[in-house]
Amino acid sequence: MIDENYLNSVRQSFIKLVQERKRKEFEKILEEAQKIFYEETEGGKRHVWFRLEDGYIEFLDQRLLPHKEEWVRCYDERDVASAIKSMIVRGAPAIGISASFGVFYGLKKRVQRRENLTYEVFKEIKETLFNTRPTAFNLQKALDEMEEEFKASGGDLDKIYARAKKIWFSDFLSCYLIGMWGSEVIPQDGFVFTICNTGSLATGGWGTAFSAIKFAKKLGKNFEVIALETRPFLQGSRLTAWELLKEKIPFHLIVDSSAPFMMKKILDETPKSISVLTGADRILRNGTTANKIGTFMLAISAKIFSVPFYVLAPSTTIDKNSEYIVIESRAEDEVKSFSGIQVAPKDAKAFNFVFDITPPDFISGIITEEGIFSYPYNFD
Ligand code: MRU
Repeated sequence: MIDENYLNSVRQSFIKLVQERKRKEFEKILEEAQKIFYEETEGGKRHVWFRLEDGYIEFLDQRLLPHKEEWVRCYDERDVASAIKSMIVRGAPAIGISASFGVFYGLKKRVQRRENLTYEVFKEIKETLFNTRPTAFNLQKALDEMEEEFKASGGDLDKIYARAKKIWFSDFLSCYLIGMWGSEVIPQDGFVFTICNTGSLATGGWGTAFSAIKFAKKLGKNFEVIALETRPFLQGSRLTAWELLKEKIPFHLIVDSSAPFMMKKILDETPKSISVLTGADRILRNGTTANKIGTFMLAISAKIFSVPFYVLAPSTTIDKNSEYIVIESRAEDEVKSFSGIQVAPKDAKAFNFVFDITPPDFISGIITEEGIFSYPYNFD
């Protein structure tokens, strides 16, 4: 267990670091952050949703939460790719981290089979991991970094492992910083609306929007979370509720479509204020944001009721080079059935876009590890 006072002193240093941007201090803080990282992760081996072992990585099967805690072993990139595709692992930063280790275990397996680690082998591994889920930019970013490492190290496994760990650690650090900045936009006494799951289960640390919620609670703010259940995969009711309960943070679940009604009811009937905080899967240079389906509905409601709407994400989610975002569309059955039970006629057709796009002018602020950015956005 980490001492709270120690954690607080590091947080204070983070604040100073970001405000003053002093190079020397930055190095000192990194050292401190690394210490915390190693303490929180049993020496850089364990996080809530994954464990690094000698010949495999184990994932907590998020499809079964909160009812069952089962772990799935992945021995190479194909296993990891299938874990990402089937949503055993999900959440943009978590997908990037998983893919980085997927590269390592894929290469390791080739070495065990006495195969040469050629660039073609690397490319094949990268392709397999890349062709899993199209929307989260963190996946592409992490794989590009691993490619850079493969080329620079000539396929040195120790260096490749260290690079994957660095990707994890940098997300861990970003989560703290995002939480620190994000806690500022949470009402002292009010409500925070959020969608999907943006906590430890989705990242390499405390989360993005969830980190801000956790941070604000630790700072003594008095608010309640309104968590959207997040149809059809129920990341809100299954995963965010699980994490909020663990953190003892007060919350209510609502069905997605009741968000605008809830917002108006709170504003009409109480003097309390509301903030909406969400994560992101891909943010374009101008702030256009793809996130879980339902996010745009929240943004529209927030705009209509003059409620601030914030997107929180590490800079590894920002895609500076694309002009448009590919939105993942998953199987119709995820909509037509519920917990394995058919809830629509067999022959009914369904759309299952799992993300939507919020235009930049609906977003009051985008919060990364570097601070709070406001509209108009220009992430160059
Ligand atoms: O389909 P998922 O569960 O991978 O979608 C996750 C989200 O939409 C999250 O909001 C996003 O990845 C940010 S998580 C820190």
